[in-house]
Amino acid sequence: MSVTQSLRPIPFIDLQAQRARLGRRVEERIERVLAHGAFIMGPEVGELERRLAAFAGVRHCITCANGTDGLQMALRARDIGPDDAVIVPAFTFVAAAEAVSLVGATPVFADVREEDFNLDPLSIAPAIAAARSAGLRPAGIIAVDLFGQPADYASLETIAAEQGLFLIADAAQSFGAALHGERVGRFGHVTATSFFPSKPLGCYGDGGALFTDDDELAAVMRSLRQHGQGSDRYDHQRVGLNGRLDSIQAAVLLAKLELFEQEIVARQEIAGRYDGALASHANLPRVRAGALSVWAQYTIRVADRDRVAEALKADGIPTAIHYPRPLHHQPAYAGFPIAGSGLARSEKLAGEVLSLPMHAYLDGVTQDHIVASLRRAVAGSDVGRTASGYR
Ligand SMILES: Cc1ncc(COP(=O)(O)O)c(C=O)c1O
Repeated sequence: MSVTQSLRPIPFIDLQAQRARLGRRVEERIERVLAHGAFIMGPEVGELERRLAAFAGVRHCITCANGTDGLQMALRARDIGPDDAVIVPAFTFVAAAEAVSLVGATPVFADVREEDFNLDPLSIAPAIAAARSAGLRPAGIIAVDLFGQPADYASLETIAAEQGLFLIADAAQSFGAALHGERVGRFGHVTATSFFPSKPLGCYGDGGALFTDDDELAAVMRSLRQHGQGSDRYDHQRVGLNGRLDSIQAAVLLAKLELFEQEIVARQEIAGRYDGALASHANLPRVRAGALSVWAQYTIRVADRDRVAEALKADGIPTAIHYPRPLHHQPAYAGFPIAGSGLARSEKLAGEVLSLPMHAYLDGVTQDHIVASLRRAVAGSDVGRTASGYR
């Protein structure tokens, strides 16, 4: 039997394999919620917040309904709104620009670095200038840890302090990652993450969390997620939202947290296998010195992307494009200011990136099949090489 014949359809992210490994952990946790009946703000929510805060090494974890609400609550906790500009990368998922727009502020797009896909600190000054010339007050930065690797927080925190900017870390793809031994959750003034099912730590629905060491911000964000609640349920100190995480989703996350450390290790091994097998065949993702990625995606760059993706598909291998269009080219966001230095790298990356199947349960046989197919797809031509060459 050939390798292909022995394989079930290859999932891009294999939640079923994780489910098998979890055994009855999730069911047992959910059954407890069904028994006590506290579906909103039940004991699982507090337990999860304590565990996640300890995991990340921060004082406060405030769970919430999803990562986008988390970003919005962080912005609102600092009263960021109309006339304020918040700098966001142009090459990322839409949520950062969306949250800024939802609070009435203006997203200003900055460029990313080609080597790690993350916000380029050198693009911040031109973005500040663009905000000012549009008559806006530069108020904050949302740095996104794209594909699982923390952004360059040493540089970004320095710039934010110098310029008086509120720094939010969007760790939707990077919870569990680290920088010089410090886990994600400790960078910026506030970190927001997502527990969307396909994230490195995902629940079985929507979910998110905020992290901070700032007691005051934490108190305001807790209030915001619960209708702006004050001293009691019907005391509303500020306009808030219904932004809570369900007890059942907290129960799922508590069960999954038991395996999370092992999964982070497995993700390193799998990314390492891709690195070793594809080094001379494609332009591979790079992890900066001192960074640990959780490999939410393993994203390569190929010049002839559509043809390569088609070849992989013919071999039963799913791929994805994160992200095909930079945000400043999206109809909803095309009118917002951009850094004066331009967004050339965001535009280039959007045309080259291709994400391969990546999750903690990707077995060696399947990965060999993916590698062989990709090697065949790029063999004998120049298609694996991007303008900047292999890594
Ligand atoms: C980088 C990034 N930020 C924010 C979000 C938003 O999270 P959610 O879907 O939980 O709102 C996502 C993903 O969904 C994301 O990938």
